[in-house]
Amino acid sequence: MCESAHRCGGSGCGGCREGFVCRCLKITEDMVIEAIAAGAQTVQDLSRQLGAGDGCMACRRHLESFLIRHRQNSLELVAS
Ligand code: FES
Repeated sequence: MCESAHRCGGSGCGGCREGFVCRCLKITEDMVIEAIAAGAQTVQDLSRQLGAGDGCMACRRHLESFLIRHRQNSLELVAS
């Protein structure tokens, strides 16, 4: 478990005040959204592009929820 997860109680960084999705690698929500907009489709893509999720791995579920949410947003834009 990473030092950051100890500080946040191991909650997976979902409620991080600094806006980090991945505290171990200091990856922000904006960086994740930008990577998804640029074509990232899986957590592995986010890991390759940003390094997100390569530390304690506590954030991987949160990264997955970002991928689902932003894919849905893209689909809704295409459908409208
Ligand atoms: S918060 Fe530890 S790897 Fe992302």
